[in-house]
Amino acid sequence: MKLIELDTVNSTNTWSLEHFEDLEDFCVVSANIQTQGKGRFGRVWVSDNCKNIYMSFVLKPEKKDYIANLTQYLSVVVSKIIEKYGVKPEIKWPNDVLVNGKKICGILCETKLFNNKIKGVVLGIGINLNMEKTELAEIDKPATALNIETDKEINKNEFLNLLLSEFEKGYKQVTEEGFLSISAEYKKRTNFLGKKFLIQQKDGAQKQEILIKKLNDDGSLTVETTDGNEKIIFSGDLFT
Ligand code: BTN
Repeated sequence: MKLIELDTVNSTNTWSLEHFEDLEDFCVVSANIQTQGKGRFGRVWVSDNCKNIYMSFVLKPEKKDYIANLTQYLSVVVSKIIEKYGVKPEIKWPNDVLVNGKKICGILCETKLFNNKIKGVVLGIGINLNMEKTELAEIDKPATALNIETDKEINKNEFLNLLLSEFEKGYKQVTEEGFLSISAEYKKRTNFLGKKFLIQQKDGAQKQEILIKKLNDDGSLTVETTDGNEKIIFSGDLFT
């Protein structure tokens, strides 16, 4: 897996999308600092700490059917690495990784289209490895970092290498078989089944109350809305 290391960039996702044609399949672009780090739903991902991870996988799989599951795959991969540090993560559907209810990692997947056809994806990830408590307090949602959870400074290179080799292990299988190839590993790290949440499905949209009934074989959720109807949810953000 080729690693392209940048110092400062607007966003590793934006940069990778701009250079997509020239970048080889399965390469990784990482940066020390992002000046315009992006989160899901148009949010900002504060990226001014070079001890954290900001990076993007450039992926051009032959079979495109399961690219929507790559974010869930990456949430499992990151969880496995966090566990190696003796910390217990939890996956919040679809792909947030939390520790003690606080977010430690965010994932943003963007699709590269050409003539309305999918060419591949840029799968971006930000991981809080080393942060001060004061820095975390400035984030508008509960957030934590691995150094806080372990009480130790985290070696960024070591974490990155573990992450890349773990990502490589199951990547081919998930692109060929989809969510089913990771559902057991995903499910055992979740805690949302049978619980009530508010869901926001678009930026700025009103939140709706739902009861999560089932995690489906394709990674989507079957939920019950307050009027008693069941529906299937493919994307969104859960709030308690
Ligand atoms: C989220 O909202 O939870 C997703 C955050 C994703 C942040 C990462 S950092 C590397 C990559 N480049 C970006 O601009 N965003 C992603």
